[in-house]
Amino acid sequence: MKKLAVFASGTGSNFEVIVNAVKTGEIKDTEVAILICDNPDAKVIETAKKLNVPYFVFDPKTYHKKANYEKRIVSILDENQIDLVVLAGYMRLIGKTILNPYEQRIINIHPSLLPKYKGLDAVGQALKANDHITGVTIHYVDNGMDTGMIIKQKEVTIERNETRASLETKIHQIEHQMYKQVINQILKERA
Ligand code: GRF
Repeated sequence: MKKLAVFASGTGSNFEVIVNAVKTGEIKDTEVAILICDNPDAKVIETAKKLNVPYFVFDPKTYHKKANYEKRIVSILDENQIDLVVLAGYMRLIGKTILNPYEQRIINIHPSLLPKYKGLDAVGQALKANDHITGVTIHYVDNGMDTGMIIKQKEVTIERNETRASLETKIHQIEHQMYKQVINQILKERA
């Protein structure tokens, strides 16, 4: 049985799809052992409760420094014997406290064709640039921002009448399909 930890800060639609894919067996022989969330008001916490996934929620403001909450996270990952950390809308850079012990075991999903439109609001960046194409990238996490080795990418066309809402919907649909396939593939390779 492989064990996942999902990190999320907001809505958690990717988290929900991953948990359901584990339940239906689309992601095989796997358990979502824990949700890690840095925002006590996030909707994803309600989803974790509904789906009976244990969660650790913390408020970074209450810690003196990043290394302190990251140490706490590492001890939770270790206790749960996590095989793969899945970032799904986690709005913080992973620091070396987590990265060093978990390198090659952390993946992220980003709503652009990296290396284009790194960082915050990649969808807004693509719209502002009047680009005709953007997409989704799944990559390993390294010490940069959205710079780790790319695992898979998919293009999304930006139509002439595209709105932010319509583009976000298209991107989310692709993400929901792509993330579970990639997770399954990585876990299979490491079985
Ligand atoms: C996704 O678009 C993902 O690419 C980005 O954050 C968003 C999270 O969406 N990193 P959700 O919270 O899973 O709905």
